[in-house]
Amino acid sequence: MSERLKITCIGAGYVGGPTMAMIAHRCPSIDVTVVDMNEERIAAWNDADLQNLPVYEPGLDAIVGEARGRNLFFSTDVASALKSADIIFISVNTPTKTYGEGAGEAADLRWIEKCARQIAETIDGPAIIVEKSTVPIRTAAMIKTVLEANGRGDDVDVLSNPEFLAEGTAMADLADPDRVLIGGENPQAIEKLVSVYEHWVPRDRILTTNLWSSELSKLTANAFLAQRVSSINSISALCEETGADVGEVARAIGSDSRIGPKFLQASVGFGGSCFQKDILNLSYLCDYFGLPEVADYWRSVVKMNNWQKHRFAQRIIKNLFNTVADKRIAILGFAFKKDTNDTREAAAIYVCRDLLIEKAHLAIYDPKVSLEQLITDLEYAGITDARERAERGEIVMTSDAYEATEQAHAVALLTEWDEFKDLDYQRVYETMPKPAHFFDGRRLLDLGHLRKIGFTAYSIGSGIQ
Ligand code: NAD
Ligand code: UGA
Repeated sequence: MSERLKITCIGAGYVGGPTMAMIAHRCPSIDVTVVDMNEERIAAWNDADLQNLPVYEPGLDAIVGEARGRNLFFSTDVASALKSADIIFISVNTPTKTYGEGAGEAADLRWIEKCARQIAETIDGPAIIVEKSTVPIRTAAMIKTVLEANGRGDDVDVLSNPEFLAEGTAMADLADPDRVLIGGENPQAIEKLVSVYEHWVPRDRILTTNLWSSELSKLTANAFLAQRVSSINSISALCEETGADVGEVARAIGSDSRIGPKFLQASVGFGGSCFQKDILNLSYLCDYFGLPEVADYWRSVVKMNNWQKHRFAQRIIKNLFNTVADKRIAILGFAFKKDTNDTREAAAIYVCRDLLIEKAHLAIYDPKVSLEQLITDLEYAGITDARERAERGEIVMTSDAYEATEQAHAVALLTEWDEFKDLDYQRVYETMPKPAHFFDGRRLLDLGHLRKIGFTAYSIGSGIQ
């Protein structure tokens, strides 16, 4: 009987968990172990109640429920899982550096290097190491150097296999990806990884390139996507000044097959753990390689995004007669997009921060975000007394949208959760002091309907009544 292929993934986060669950689901002949140093996270992945998984993604619970314990395992025993692995995925965090050289822009690679060292110390046979994390170009060279310096160079290959899933649609993206990208030097190692994906991805959608093209393609893809959002958001501001409607402009330009309709939804600003971090990293690399003009070009995408978030908060303050002090403002949605519990770099954090600086009281409702998470995010954004404000009742997390909007001077819709489409806005209006203001940061609702009810309603890119 032939040995079963063994895959180990270091990092049980938003990428490691769902990605490995999909591999285990589609490849019953492969054993997949996901390891993490975070004991709490691993315990949550192993929780008998699938509602307690640490990552919320539609469809994830069913796949974990089916594969866990059969050929999908979650563990904190990193060394044992590495020892027996044929293929090792590195799927750890690569956040923006907050200290020292490159602070605020460069990627912090200490977790990647730690993985390389752990692998070098632990494995005793041939292995394929796969960069699943998003990394700066030439990171594979660092991993190889660490391995070689520790006598593990000959029978170990390093491949780049960046992940393109988007949160909220991760399972669908993994099941039917536009492409799988594999960069490497050794054709046999590449073929081995191709054979894993071939269990469910058509061969013509598995692209193979050299290592550096693969690493750079990931940063470039995120930069291009974010640039589209900043581009349409820049036009949303012009629409508000001129009477054009950004939805109509997006439809008109998106019908051009060279432009295409996707990623043209104007919003309060893009969030998420990756767009900003990856663009800043790209800019840092461009500066590093002596290309300041290229660096500045990409930096402007982030600059426009910061301005859009600030502009939205300023709009609220201005329309509320330039003072929000002691006024209750309802915030609908805090996650960075719908269908995820992830709040990393959510636009809502920065809008709330700007309002709190002006002494507003906030009543926030999000179906997947906890008060504890909210306080952590606000503290990170500079509201150091967020906990005290919450204790005084100036920041509250409500259990539904109606509770948040009751007695609020204004409602700001910041995440496009489906349930916000179907609220009874007449009921919302009746419980608010007048004039009742509505600010739609996602263009989710019919502005005409809100105005008919009586709201002073504003929607990004559609102007004020
Ligand atoms: P995450 O923070 O959710 O998960 C990373 C996990 O790695 C953490 O649980 C951490 O405890 C663990 N870890 C770090 N070092 C470790 C070590 N040495 N040993 C064991 N465990 C360790 O991060 P994420 O959102 O899953 O992102 C991971 C990578 O994938 C990043 O590079 C990110 O840019 C990239 N990416 C993310 C997404 C996304 O949607 N979140 C999509 C594509 C790519
Ligand atoms: C993004 C990319 O889409 C993925 O391909 C990539 O793998 C991932 O980053 C990553 O590297 O982490 P994600 O951030 O999960 O995925 O979600 P997106 O759907 O891209 O949305 C990002 C942000 O842009 C959200 O805040 C969203 O609301 C906003 N957005 C998106 C808009 O404001 N308008 C749009 O038209 C599209």
